[in-house]
Formats: sequence, C-alpha cells, structure tokens
Amino acid sequence: MSTHDVDDGTGGLDASIQYELDRPQNVGQGMIDSLNDFKAFRIAAPFFGMADTIALGAVFAVAGCGGPLIPFSAGRVDATEAGPETVPEPQQDLASHTEAFRRQGFTPTEMIGLVACGHTLGGVRQVDFPLVVTDTEDVLQTFDTTTNFDNAVVSEYLQNTTENILVVGPNVTTRSDFRIFSSDGNVTMQSFLSSDTFNETCGALIGRMINTVPNGVTLTEPISEPFDYVVSEPLFSYRNGTLSMATTLRVINPSDNPSRTITLLWADRQGSSCPSTGCTSPSTSLQQVVFSLIGNIQGLTGTRYSFNATINATTSLSKFWFEINENDGSDPVVVDNGGSGFVIEQDTIFIDNSRSENLFLSSSFTDIRKVVVAVRGDASSSVSITTFDPNSSASTPPYVLTVTTTELQLDESNPSEGGFTFFTANVSETVNFLNIVANVAGTSYTQENFDMTVVNFPFVTL
Ligand code: HEM
Repeated sequence: MSTHDVDDGTGGLDASIQYELDRPQNVGQGMIDSLNDFKAFRIAAPFFGMADTIALGAVFAVAGCGGPLIPFSAGRVDATEAGPETVPEPQQDLASHTEAFRRQGFTPTEMIGLVACGHTLGGVRQVDFPLVVTDTEDVLQTFDTTTNFDNAVVSEYLQNTTENILVVGPNVTTRSDFRIFSSDGNVTMQSFLSSDTFNETCGALIGRMINTVPNGVTLTEPISEPFDYVVSEPLFSYRNGTLSMATTLRVINPSDNPSRTITLLWADRQGSSCPSTGCTSPSTSLQQVVFSLIGNIQGLTGTRYSFNATINATTSLSKFWFEINENDGSDPVVVDNGGSGFVIEQDTIFIDNSRSENLFLSSSFTDIRKVVVAVRGDASSSVSITTFDPNSSASTPPYVLTVTTTELQLDESNPSEGGFTFFTANVSETVNFLNIVANVAGTSYTQENFDMTVVNFPFVTL
C-alpha cells in the first residue's frame, strides 16, 4: 500500500506489487511465495481479487500469530499496472521515511507504531539483503526472539538485548528501525511495553494500512463477526414434471438440540398451489461446519442443514425462507432475509444440476465438465455461459483473470420435456461460472454469479 499518496488520493492496497517484483525495493522470495499462496483464492477472483486477498492475508497472519483480530472489509480493486517506486528501504534516512509515511497517510508517531507492529514478525534474509545481513551463515535474521505477534520486538529493543539487524546490524546506514524507534526519544516504544497498548495500536494501524485504497474505491462495512445465517446458492434440476431445488442453511453457534427441525418454505410464482404460509420441505441432513483459523479463534461452531425441495414446475417458486423450530415450546425463528425472503429473480434459465456431469475422458486423461442449462422455451433460444478459470492464469505473477464466453448447443442427449429445452457445452473441469445469458422468445435473461463451489455434478468416465 506504500504507493498511496494522500495528496492526490492515488495508490494504496491494489495488488500493484504483482507488476513491481523486478524492483530492488521488492526483492525477496517472500513476495512471490505469498502471491503464489494467494493464487488459490482466485476461485472467487471476479468478486474477491488479489488486493482483497492480500488484506485478508494480513488479517490471518496477525491473528494466527496471536495478535489482534483486525476487522476485515472487502471491495479493493486490483491494479492493472505498476505503481510508483515508493516502498521504504533500510538505507534511506529518517527524513525520507517520515515523508514517505506522511504521503501514505501516517504521522511520525504512527510510523514508529507501524514499523514496530510489522517487525514483530519475520526478519531479514541474507540472500535478499547481503548489505544488511553480512554474515553469510545467517539465512534469516529475525527481528525479535519470538515467532508470536507480540511486543518482544519492543521490549528487546528497550532492554538493549535486541538482535534486530535493522537496529544493531553491522551496517550503520541500514539501521532504519533504530532511527525510527528512537526518533521521539523512545516515548512511543515505551508505551508499547504495555501489551494491551501494543495490540490495540497495532490492530488499529494495520487495519488502516490494509484499508488504504485509491480515491473512488469503496470498501464494505467491516466484518468481524460471522453472519448468523448463510444460505448457499440454490441448485435446480427439472425432470419428469418436477422442479427440484437443493440448498443449505448454515446456522452459527447452534445450541445442542437434537429435536431441532428446520423447514424450507417457498411461495409459488404463479397460481396459488402453495398456501399463504408457504409450501414446505424439511431438512434432509446436517453436517458440522469446519471453520478457518479465525472462526476457531472466536470459538465458533456451526451446523449446515441441507434441503432438497420438490416443486411444482408449472407454478414454480418466487422466493424461499426457513423456519427453525426448537420443538421446546418456544416460537420458531424465521430466517427470511430481513422479511423479503430469498428471491428467485427468474426461473426461465438455470444450470440443470442433475443433468450436468463431470466427465473423465480416458483417451486424453482430462477431466471436463458437461454443463447443461435448462431453458423454459424452445430450440430457437440462444444460451451462452461466461466462465473464468482460476487455474489457467500464468504460472508467475501477475495473475490476471481470463474470462471466456461459450455458446451452448442443443443437447441431443437430453430431449426437451415439459416445456424445457436443454442446451449444453463442455468446459474445463476447473472453471467457475460468472453468469448465464439467454435469449428466449425475444427476451433476454441473465443469471449472475453462479456459485460453482457448491456444485456437485455426478462423475462419469468415458
Ligand atoms: C521504514 C519502513 C520499513 C523498512 C525500511 C522495512 C524494511 C524491511 C526489510 C529490509 C525487511 C526484510 C525483507 C526480506 O528479507 O525479505 C523487512 C521485513 C518485514 N517487514 Fe519491514 N520495513 C519497514 C516497514 C514495515 C512495515 C510498516 C511493516 C508492516 C506493518 C513491515 C513488515 C515487515 C514484515 C512482516 C517483514 C518480514 C517478512 C518476512 O519475514 O518474510 N515493515 N522489512
């Protein structure tokens, strides 16, 4: 984020590092290794890019090493080119560092805080900084003696026991941490002897650091608590006159109650086949949720309930919701998206989950995905899907997303039935869907953001 300039509002955390790796100021395997790790998150790339992933990486690194839990906001926009060469370097003088931090939006006191907070983790690598770490036996010179996110970097500095190479290194010119830490007569460093002050200050400063974005980029409200309920993208299928819809409801910290029942309810789209209270379908199974590091730190538990509703295909559905009944005399809890229900915007086109399949072509040892889209319309309809392949990007940064649009063909193996016509295309096994667009009898329909991570096509070997 050091590319940020408060004076004109440009730069910030925008993953421009992907285009800046050849600069001496960004030397080191750490940058490349991190970007390679973060590449795994490209499964959601159009909605959650590299800049958001870097920010989330910082939140996980700090919390995972025992530091504060920094609230996370999403919405950063990935740069498409390099930014200015503004990363501070250890051989620069105090005035240059003070000005660099001012330009990035931080006061001299905040500069001391940020450097102390950052330099509680990791260290300096000899191969990358031979002028800082002169002893060639010394592979990695850590900033303090603990691997935790803690104020040891501060106490060891104040007690003169520090081995921080940017404080006591043989090369006086590169003792940038010493110049910064002592720049206010150690007043700020003294205050960090309190672990609470250190943690609170670091949480706030690193939070501001990762939320520094160019003017015009708007971040979401901070997320620090999990949502009470999460509903997965509903998956549809049409066969023999019935429409089926599979979805799940994740409930956070449920009490231990084996008598709990959860019901999926829906309203029809046309006609009145459902009563005013909704048509119903009970949950079919449940499973415990496995949380990430931060969920575990927060002591979360969760249960995911699965549903598979059979819906009259003619009257269809317009929205669905859930009712949680503890069956202990208490009123049921209604999960209805704040009153509006979970709205099915259109039911004219959908990926038909039971007709779609993963195919293994034994002739070429490749996995492909046969996607079948059901269309309420005839063979004159046209359908295309837009996909992106997280695995297809370059093997080195920048990891730029390739988005592909594929026209679907009439599916010979799925003859039309009940007013539905089926269209198909074979796509790479690793693609995710961005949207389906169809033209049916002169009207255009779009289904956005199909969540591929929950799709479980049957597997067939050819
Ligand atoms: C004047 C400002 C700064 C200078 C001159 C500086 C300098 C350095 C240098 C030379 C390294 C060694 C990199 C390597 O060997 O790959 C390093 C590592 C590191 N710095 Fe800074 N730094 C500064 C500010 C910050 C700030 C503000 C943070 C975060 C809040 C930070 C976090 C880190 C971390 C976590 C490492 C360890 C990386 C690893 O072990 O892979 N630094 N810094």
